[in-house]
Parts: sequence; structure tokens; C-alpha cells
Amino acid sequence: MTGRLAGKAAIVTGAASGIGRASAELFAAEGARVLAVDRPGSNLVFDDASIQTLAVDLASADAPKQVIGKALAAFGKLDILYNNAGVASNALAAQMTDEAWDATQDVNLKAVFRLCREAIPHLVASPAGRIVSTASVMANGTDYGLAAYCASKAGVVGLMRTLALELGKHGVTANAVLPGAIRTGMTARSFADPGIADVWAKKSVLRRLGEPIDVARVALFLASEDGGFVTGQAIAADGGMTLRI
Ligand SMILES: NC(=O)c1ccc[n+]([C@@H]2O[C@H](COP(=O)([O-])OP(=O)(O)OC[C@H]3O[C@@H](n4cnc5c(N)ncnc54)[C@H](O)[C@@H]3O)[C@@H](O)[C@H]2O)c1
Repeated sequence: MTGRLAGKAAIVTGAASGIGRASAELFAAEGARVLAVDRPGSNLVFDDASIQTLAVDLASADAPKQVIGKALAAFGKLDILYNNAGVASNALAAQMTDEAWDATQDVNLKAVFRLCREAIPHLVASPAGRIVSTASVMANGTDYGLAAYCASKAGVVGLMRTLALELGKHGVTANAVLPGAIRTGMTARSFADPGIADVWAKKSVLRRLGEPIDVARVALFLASEDGGFVTGQAIAADGGMTLRI
């Protein structure tokens, strides 16, 4: 098998849809064996035989053991962990319930930490362990109603930075990719309105919405040998949306 991830064993979460699906397929096309993880009931059907699947709620208590256990059983090792699953949330801080806050942090931040923790011994054993996490341009910016989402995504960036520091001596890199406005399941309803889609397309200096593959290619770079000297970074894939102030 040839490709930029030839011989690698990878986990991609949130792989049923959007950025995760494009990434699982791209990683497999580049030679990796991939465990595609998403919620029970999601569409985890893939054409590529090198993609295996696991349906699990990543916020559940035993999810890390299930995910890492299945990857090791299937591949015998782990080289790449791509934490991509995430949920949107929208509530003004003054009205937000504890439950709404926790529901966002549990998936977007705590599940990422818990999966990383479970994966670390195996990534350290890899000659080139890689952690990539999908944060958001909202790790740095914000909008009304995004307190929980922004906090979770800023948390992911801080987590990646610290893991980069702690794991560097083992040759493991940890980075975040920060998507801008991408056409996925998460944004489908908003971008079905041509007016809304147009507003967000024009925020990009490239004058278009992003597609899942635009982000998947950045994740591939960070997961591959090409990104071997990049660690602790937060790389925007936003079509230049955040250039203007
Ligand atoms: N679409 C955008 O414009 C945009 C912008 C910035 C960041 N992001 C981030 O990109 C990542 C991928 O989202 P997307 O845009 O491809 O959306 P998406 O809704 O198409 O995909 C997200 C996937 O995560 C899965 N998921 C959510 N909660 C889960 C859980 N508890 N357990 C297992 N799987 C779970 C969903 O089932 C879904 O398949 C998310 O972290 C999101 O916050 C997206």
C-alpha cells in the first residue's frame, strides 16, 4: 500500500458525516487502516474495506476503552487519533442551563480528553504518534449564544497545546484544526437558506463555503510525515474568514 499514511493505524471520530467522513475516506485512500467512530444510529457504511466502524456515544463512560480496544484488536497498534466529533449549541449565557453547558463540554471537550488519555500509551509506542483535533475558528472568535461552544473549542486548543508539550519527548505531535464555515451535517439546515449560505461564503476571502475535504486535507497533513515538525499549533482552515477585524 502506498500513500502518505501507508501502514498507519488511525481512529477518526464523528466519521459518519461531514469532516469526519471525508477524513476517514481520505486517510484510507492514503493507505491507513481506519476505525471510523460515530454515534449509534449514524451512517457508518463505507465502500473502502480498510475502514472498520464502531458505533458508540463518545460521551459515555466506557467509550474510550471501547474505541481504543477495538482499534488495537483490529490493527494491533495505534498511530493516529483524530478527535473530530462535535456538537453545536446555542444559548445565551444568562439563560443557559447546567445541562446544556455539560452536554456541549461532555462531547466537545471531555470526551476528547478522555480518548486522548486512553490512547497516549499506544501513541507513545508508535514511531510517529499523532493527535489531531477539530476545534473551530470559534476557539478564537465568538457570537451570541456560543458561550458553551466557544469555551469547548478554546479548551480543545489548550488541551492540544499541553499534550504537545507533555508528549513531545515521545515523538508524538498534537495539533488542532480550526474550520471556518464548512458545508456539513452541522450546518446543513442553515446553509440550505441561500441567503445565509451567501453571507457565510462572503466572509471567506476566497468567497466560498468550505467543503469537508478542505478540512480533511489539513488533518491529513497534520497526521502524516509532512506535519512531522508541527506540534501544539491551531491551524485555521477557513478560507481566510478570520483575516479581517
Ligand atoms: N461545519 C462547520 O462549519 C464547522 C466549523 C467549525 C468547527 N466544526 C467542527 O467540526 C467537527 C465535525 O463536524 P461537522 O461540521 O463535520 O458536522 P457533522 O454534524 O456533519 O459531523 C459531526 C459528527 O459527530 C458525531 N457526533 C456528535 N456527537 C457524538 C457523540 N457523542 N458520539 C459519537 N459521535 C458524535 C455526529 O453524529 C456527526 O456524525 C465538529 O467538532 C464541529 O464542531 C464544524
